[in-house]
Amino acid sequence: MCGIVGYTGFQEAYSVVVNGLKRLEYRGYDSAGVVLEVPESGFYIAKTKGKVADLVSISQSFEGKARIGMGHTRWATHGVPSDKNAHPHLSNNGKISIVHNGIIENYDTIKKILTDKGYTFGSETDTEVLVNFIQYFMDTDPALDFSEAVRYALNEVYGAYAIAVMHRDFHGELVVARLGSPLAIGLGEKEYFIASDASPFVEFTKEAIYLEEGHMATISLDKGVDIRTIKGNERITPAIQELKLSLEEIEKGGYEHFMLKEIFEQPKSIHDTLRGRVLVDEGIIKMAGIWDHLERFSKADRIIIIACGTSWHAGLTGEYLIEEYARIPVEVEYASEFRYRNPIITERDVVIAISQSGETADTMAAIKLAKEKGAFIYGICNVVDSSIARISDAGSYTHAGPEIGVASTKAFTAQLTILSLIALKLGKHNGNLGNAEFMKLISELETLPKKIEEVLETTHGSIKEMSKNFLEVSNFLYLGRGYNFPTALEGALKLKEISYIHAEGYPAAEMKHGPIALIDENMPIVIIAPQKGHYDKIVSNVQEIKARKGKVISVVNYADSRVSKMSDYTIEIPDSSECFSPILASVPLQLMAYYIAVYRGANVDQPRNLAKSVTVE
Ligand code: M6R
Repeated sequence: MCGIVGYTGFQEAYSVVVNGLKRLEYRGYDSAGVVLEVPESGFYIAKTKGKVADLVSISQSFEGKARIGMGHTRWATHGVPSDKNAHPHLSNNGKISIVHNGIIENYDTIKKILTDKGYTFGSETDTEVLVNFIQYFMDTDPALDFSEAVRYALNEVYGAYAIAVMHRDFHGELVVARLGSPLAIGLGEKEYFIASDASPFVEFTKEAIYLEEGHMATISLDKGVDIRTIKGNERITPAIQELKLSLEEIEKGGYEHFMLKEIFEQPKSIHDTLRGRVLVDEGIIKMAGIWDHLERFSKADRIIIIACGTSWHAGLTGEYLIEEYARIPVEVEYASEFRYRNPIITERDVVIAISQSGETADTMAAIKLAKEKGAFIYGICNVVDSSIARISDAGSYTHAGPEIGVASTKAFTAQLTILSLIALKLGKHNGNLGNAEFMKLISELETLPKKIEEVLETTHGSIKEMSKNFLEVSNFLYLGRGYNFPTALEGALKLKEISYIHAEGYPAAEMKHGPIALIDENMPIVIIAPQKGHYDKIVSNVQEIKARKGKVISVVNYADSRVSKMSDYTIEIPDSSECFSPILASVPLQLMAYYIAVYRGANVDQPRNLAKSVTVE
């Protein structure tokens, strides 16, 4: 939530900052702003409610005169999206400027102290309080170094943040700090970049430092990057990392939206998730994270899966997979509920935390709680080196590549793939899954990229056409059973978050316990009905829907004869073992949500009110 970018060097700071903001816009997009240090005239600040494009239309670049600057793209927490609440914020004396991602929880206490001392505030934000708090320390001790004043202030605040701060009297200096929100420092030749992730500077340098939790850095062309701990002011020697990210991965590559690109990337992303992990010839699954901790998993009383949103849906499928193949009891919890309900956790529990971004505040807090109680934490993340990846005891990356569209697509199917690997590996190890069945399933896993390619090729055109029929609809139901109950939940979430059509996912059999009351000739119902599993039961559910004149859109296998006959629209997917059908069935549901949203004129990559990484609770 919120994107931060900053630059000091020889290039025109405005262009670097604004282009960087465009890449970070997935993190928040209700307002945007920039601050430049312009020689001889001080700070130039431009900020506005709206997108980075709106910022560009009201701001100027100073034609290369400004070589240092910062920018921000916001997802509102304190105060509505407005020009005055947009970042950067300035201190009362006009000398200190700040951009901030996160929340300062005790801002009202600090605001009261500062107000009593005569400081005034023009916005509703916690950020403006922080910048004035920094000024307060410098006012109190005029000899205090700027970065020390930042450190003093940070030692008094609670919350989660990544910040970047500039001071007019400390020319060419950027001070950054992180606690709970990510911050990367790009190291160029005579230039430095800062950003919430490496995407704004990947074309300028391949070297970066990822600031650790509780660390801050003072960055200037003269002194380089000086990293210290916020608490103890101890100097830190940073680890410099080589960036693996390529420009191609973070651009649209000819697609109209990132979401469509990411849907079409799934044959490759699943291939990348499996690469080096499924060795059919040797008859093994080789995953370092699990391999080294098999005994810990096998001895677990139970596995608790914690996640939010789409990742939680992947977790639900994980429950079906792990219970079926490894016969270990699994509980799936919303991280946001788990963290606050005083759950029973013991040292014999294994917690699997699933997160695309690896930053989600609720998931982080739930992990910390489980860790305190001695549980073993296994992280499944997409973003390498993210906070959740770091805090976990072990884990697996999904390797789906950067996911920029706010609606998760390829990360979800990659999570399902990893969970399949975990379930099969554990099942084989603890003897619940026989060798013949194991071999059959791991061989089938390898065919999934090809099958997804087939789904994309054969269904894309017809889904695009079919979607035009649902633009005026207000409600959708998604139904599935067994492994495809979570697929139904995920299909409904995809539709509602990008098209703003209300959609509910249900286990198909639950329909008659309530939702059936909604069904009439105006209600489209998506039925996920692959032939394996509870097919006969689903046939009965479809009959019940048709008896009430509901419009059925079914996702079925090629060989289907019964459900498709009763359906108004049919989407065919290749046959597979039931446990892998969610991976195949999710793809057409993503396409359908995408096209309905596009035809309704919605911004699918940046749906209203949402942000890609939810770093606040
Ligand atoms: O990064 P995470 O996987 O932890 O994010 C969890 C949810 O915020 C996320 O899946 C959200 O539901 C997406 N917008 C779904 O498309």
